[in-house]
This record gives sequence, C-alpha cells and structure tokens, in this order.
Amino acid sequence: MSQTFQFPNGFLWGGSVSANQIEGAYQEDGKGLSIQDIMPNGIQTPPTNEPTEDNMKLIAIDFYHRYKEDIKLLAEMGFKVFRTSIAWSRIFSKGDELEPNEKGLQFYDNLFDECRKYGIEPLVTISHYETPLHLVREYDGWANRKMVDFYERYVRTIFERYQNKVKYWLTFNEINSILEHPFASGGINTPKDQLSKQALYQAVHHEFVASALAVKIGHEINPEFKIGCMVIAMPIYPLTPDPNDMIKVMEADHKNTGFTDVHVRGYYPGYMKRYLKDNGITIHFEPDDEEILKNTVDFISFSYYQSSCETADPAKQIKGEGNLIGGVPNPLLTASDWGWQIDPQGLRYIMNAMYDRYQKPLFIVENGLGAVDELITDENGNKTVIDDYRIKYLKEHLLQVAEAIQDGVELMGYATWGCIDLVSATTAEMKKRYGFIFVDRHDDGSGTLERYRKKSFYWYKDVIESNGSSLFRE
Ligand code: BG6
Repeated sequence: MSQTFQFPNGFLWGGSVSANQIEGAYQEDGKGLSIQDIMPNGIQTPPTNEPTEDNMKLIAIDFYHRYKEDIKLLAEMGFKVFRTSIAWSRIFSKGDELEPNEKGLQFYDNLFDECRKYGIEPLVTISHYETPLHLVREYDGWANRKMVDFYERYVRTIFERYQNKVKYWLTFNEINSILEHPFASGGINTPKDQLSKQALYQAVHHEFVASALAVKIGHEINPEFKIGCMVIAMPIYPLTPDPNDMIKVMEADHKNTGFTDVHVRGYYPGYMKRYLKDNGITIHFEPDDEEILKNTVDFISFSYYQSSCETADPAKQIKGEGNLIGGVPNPLLTASDWGWQIDPQGLRYIMNAMYDRYQKPLFIVENGLGAVDELITDENGNKTVIDDYRIKYLKEHLLQVAEAIQDGVELMGYATWGCIDLVSATTAEMKKRYGFIFVDRHDDGSGTLERYRKKSFYWYKDVIESNGSSLFRE
C-alpha cells in the first residue's frame, strides 16, 4: 500500500439504512401496511397474516419522530451521504391509488431538508424490501405486469417532488435477491415452492423494465439525476481447482451478472437467454420493452458482506449462512457471530471484476459487521460501546477499497450499512447491531430509545475528516 494514497476529492463517505428498519410509525400519517409489517421474524421466515406486537419494525428505532436528532449525529461524524429508502406505502398507502399521500411526501421533504442543512447528500432507494402489502395480496407483486404502472406512478411522484433535494437514486435494493427471496424482494405472494421459474423470471423482467423506466423518467425530470442499480455483490471462488468447480462458479456468477448486464448494457446477455431456453422459460416482452431496457444506469451500487464457494461435488454442496444469497462456506475464512464469512480481499476482487466488465462508476452502499454490542459506562461517566471488532472489520475492508481504487476502479463513495443501530433484515433482531450509534432498544421491546456514540463513531469521524488518510496512520 502506497503511503501517499489519497481517496478521491469529493468522495462520498457516509452510511445507509432503509425506511422499514428504522422509521417505525408503521400506521402514522396515512401510511399503509408493507410486507415488513407482517414479517416479525425476518426474511427467511414465512410472514404472519396481520402485524403482531413482537415485530420490532413497527416501532423500530422511532426514526420517524427522532430523525432530526439522528441526522445531527451523522452530521457530527462528517457524513457526506446518507442512504435511506422511501417507504412506498407512506406515499401510496395501498400502492394502486391515483393520488399520493401528502403527509408521507411531507415527511421525506422534512428529512431531505434536514440532510441538506448539514450538507449531506441523500441517496434514496426507491424500493427496499417494503412493497405495499395490498399490491402483494391483490396482484401477487412483481409477478404481475401491472406493478410496472404502479411503480412508474410512484417514481414519477417522488422524482418530481424531490427533484431539487435528491440527486442520487437506486431503483431496487439488492435486485438479484428476488431469485432466492421472491416474497421479500419481489413482493410475490405465491409461496416459493409453488412459484414456477417461468413466473419468477417474468417478475424479474417486470423489475428490469420498471428500473429502466425509472432511469428514463428520472433523466427527463432532472438530467442531473444519477440513477443506479443495486445488487448483492458476492465473489464466488471454486472450492477446489477442479475445472468442474470452475464451471459451477461461472454459472453462479451468471445468476448475478445477469442483473448488472441488463442494467448496464440494456439487453439480456447470451448466457441468460440460454438459461431461460434450457429451463423452458419464455419471457413475455411488451412491444416497447426492448427500447425501454436501453435506458441504462449511471452507476452500479452494491452491498458487500461476504464471498462464498461453489463445488461440483454433491457431497460438499452445503449451504452456508449469509446475506440472502450465498453458497458453500470457505474453509479458509472466519465468520461473524451470525455465520457471515469475513473476506476483505473479496471486496477488492469484486470491485475489480465489476469495473473490468463495465467501466462504470461504482458505489459501495452497504458493508459492515453485525455484532452483539455491550453498552458500558466509561471513566467519564458516558455510556458507550467499545466496538474494536467493528473498527477492525471496517478498516480492513477500507484498506482493500483503497487497493481497488489504486487498481484503477472508479468509486463514488462508501456508505456503511446500519450507520445507526436498526432492526436486522434477515432475522428482524435489534441484537444484531451495525451502527456507530447505539440505540437503547432490545428484542423484548424494552429500552429508552436513547442514542449513544460508540467508539467507532469517533473512529469513522476521523476517517471522514482525513478523507481516509487516518486509515494509514494507525
Ligand atoms: C442487506 C439489506 O441484505 O443486508 C439490508 O439490504 C440488511 O436491508 C443488510 O439489513 C444486513 O442484513 P441483516 O440481516 O444483518 O440486517
């Protein structure tokens, strides 16, 4: 690592959250129910019929009422960018109405104004695992073509409303997760084991068209908009040097690159067409779809938590723990308390792989360590968390980011996941914390909701203030 290395000028340092994991106020000011309101146990577990009291997201960290205090804390760390999502069901409570909910729109006006007050750029995810429940039950979510129209109305509304407040947009959070999690990711009500591949890939197509339409409409409304796709980035290694393992790697990679290829190149790649054909899937294209898909994204954003392996040996095909997608565990890596394998170099690798493939700017919009934190009182009587493990994790990853930038990768920014503690997505726990800011709320519903700065708060402040130079000092 060169000692003279500098992160680029104007690099967007910051953090990420999603509406459903922080806001709470699940029925306030005209908000309708979303799928998250009936998912008390997270993405891996079937939903309930109605919202239940044990669902941590109904109150979450009460950001809806405390956003001013929280944005102030993020500003104190020097944040340049704050990624959150708009809860679709605050804007269109059912999703298929013609008129938006003014109070919902007003909330995000206030939030974005608050960010701007401190010079923080909002980065907005349009759909982050929080499809309005009515669209799921009435239409089967993205399996239905009508979703494209509902989404179009929603994006037009928010693009017009926030055109002078938000410049950076992401169309769908981790769009490639729909293959594994059709309910959470695609709002598809049909149980996964009854959902045909035909219907699943048709839903993927609907999202592709909706995403490209958003790019088109956004650029018409404000040519300065930067609109990106958002995928789970996961490097996949062969478990052994066996060429058969490598072919498995290639096939697994294609399941992910298919999503970025369509977003960046504007058409289905050959290997995807082959997969569809081999599986007897015929995607129905409406007459304009081919043209619409040519509205390609301005940048590629992604979450990075871990790598995984693939093998052709059926006896070794064990599925490891991980962030929604993932394969065979790597015997050479350690893991977090939740079994997510830790691989900082994988980040450098995947950044290079993506940049080599597309030469489009990248944006890391999620990365971080979910861990159990202990709130203590320090010698000055302040409550805090000594989260050296989190600092270590982030530092190791950022050093690899610096390597990738030196490799020539163009990177717009780095936003850690869960910059303030929030409810986890896969398990819906508070106990799994990612933040620089501790929130006093616990899985049994107890807690004052007070906020406390962790040790990593001061560490990250220093990283941002020095534009990354502090990483090389320690
Ligand atoms: C990503 C999601 O999958 O990973 C986030 O975009 C999520 O919503 C994050 O919170 C971490 O996952 P978890 O389960 O630890 O919250």
